[in-house]
Amino acid sequence: MSPDFFDVVTRQRAHRAFSDRPVTDHDLARLLDAAVHAPSAENRQPWEFVVVRDPHRRAAIGELMRRGWEESGREFERGRLPRALFEDVERGATGGIATAPVHVVVCADVARGLEQTVGSSVFPAVQNLLLAATALGLGSALTTIAVGYAHELAALLALPGHVRPVAVVPVGWPARPLGRPRRDPFGRHTHREVFGVPW
Ligand SMILES: Cc1cc2nc3c(=O)[nH]c(=O)nc-3n(C[C@H](O)[C@H](O)[C@H](O)COP(=O)(O)O)c2cc1C
Repeated sequence: MSPDFFDVVTRQRAHRAFSDRPVTDHDLARLLDAAVHAPSAENRQPWEFVVVRDPHRRAAIGELMRRGWEESGREFERGRLPRALFEDVERGATGGIATAPVHVVVCADVARGLEQTVGSSVFPAVQNLLLAATALGLGSALTTIAVGYAHELAALLALPGHVRPVAVVPVGWPARPLGRPRRDPFGRHTHREVFGVPW
């Protein structure tokens, strides 16, 4: 039986540590099927997903994450992120995410999508993928550190020039359960009719 949608959506969290239990193609197909049911401008569906299982390729992606973190992310985020999140992101970027048995490299086909909307047209698909993973009990995370190395990713994954990587989503069974996500209540950021009138 499928879990309740509202339970899934309020439990979804970024996982950065995974067990070595394998993820089947059947599970991945369910995530990808959810992903491609997302909305997109003009219904162009400009997403492309490269599903990476090969350990060498995953290690190479993991290295790009490490480089991104060590060369710029770490100093930029120090003092910006709360300590626990900083440590989590650091553990993820320096090896945790690489332990996921699958990396889904999400790409935007800029030839298929409108230039102005192609980015916004891909992320709803990513969110569907994350929610589907949560519904199945799989861990996942939206990560962008490695896409700073678009040329390296393109070479590694044989991406044509019009297919640009926008996110790397690790997928695997969680190493440990995560608690509920911490979020502000919606009323703190919701306005009635005009900005500033509280909900
Ligand atoms: C656009 C975007 C980029 C992100 N990039 C990264 C990333 O590169 N590495 C990472 O570990 N997490 C990344 N995250 C995950 C966020 O850190 C996470 O969603 C946020 O801290 C909430 O954490 P939670 O899911 O544990 O509640 C990204 C999230 C978004 C929406």
